[in-house]
Amino acid sequence: MFNNIDIKKIKPSTAFIAKKVVHFEKVGSTNDVAKENTYEDGTLIIADTQTTGKGRLGREWVSENKSGIYMSIVLTPEISAEKISLLTLIAGISVCEALTDICNIPFKIKWPNDIVADGKKVCGILTEGIILPEKPKAIVGIGINVNQKSFADDLREKATSIYLLSNKNFDREIIINKVAEAFEKNYMDFIGNKPLKKKYESLCVNIDRKITATINGTQINATAMGITNNGELIVKKEDGTTLNINSGEVSVRGIYGYY
Ligand code: BTN
Repeated sequence: MFNNIDIKKIKPSTAFIAKKVVHFEKVGSTNDVAKENTYEDGTLIIADTQTTGKGRLGREWVSENKSGIYMSIVLTPEISAEKISLLTLIAGISVCEALTDICNIPFKIKWPNDIVADGKKVCGILTEGIILPEKPKAIVGIGINVNQKSFADDLREKATSIYLLSNKNFDREIIINKVAEAFEKNYMDFIGNKPLKKKYESLCVNIDRKITATINGTQINATAMGITNNGELIVKKEDGTTLNINSGEVSVRGIYGYY
């Protein structure tokens, strides 16, 4: 079986991301721990298992003991509250780059927050923001399926793990270090106003594909064209008009499968 995360091995080559690491063997949700406590900028909260792991749109994030990565990065950026959701896109690019580098498999992003390969999801990102009087606090929660050998029936069709994709077990600490390094680089570019839109679009699997978006219970069929500077998905509807979709209330599926 697998070991607990060894925090001594979490040593990314970064200036501030994951320089401080708080580790739990078991916790409700690393995002909740990050929200409910005061941590310095860049702190990484990590758990070997979560009992109430949270996904987007109120879904559960199944957090099997020691097989996956369940982590949250605490940030106190000097940005307006509306821009906090862009951190999801930054994290998506970073996880994609880190996993592609380590595993030699081309990972892609399914807008807005899923990292996918071979038609299935391997990672999800949940960014939460808190508006404090001083400055906003953002929590970027990242769940990566690493060494899971199988998934429950309800997840099997759409979830996969790095083990299932590569037939190899991976040290979670190595992946955490790489993700932290990629995240710090992309985050600093973002804070420095360097455009990341093109990079995101080149990794986004939806672009130029037909999608079905469920917006507040209503389905629309459209083709994804790109993203706006605010991270909305630009789609062309069947009647030829375009629409910018905000990630808050929407789930997007490909018309032939998960994407
Ligand atoms: C999604 O795909 O819906 C987002 C999943 C995010 C899961 C991660 S695991 C670490 C952090 N803690 C949580 O409770 N959720 C995020």
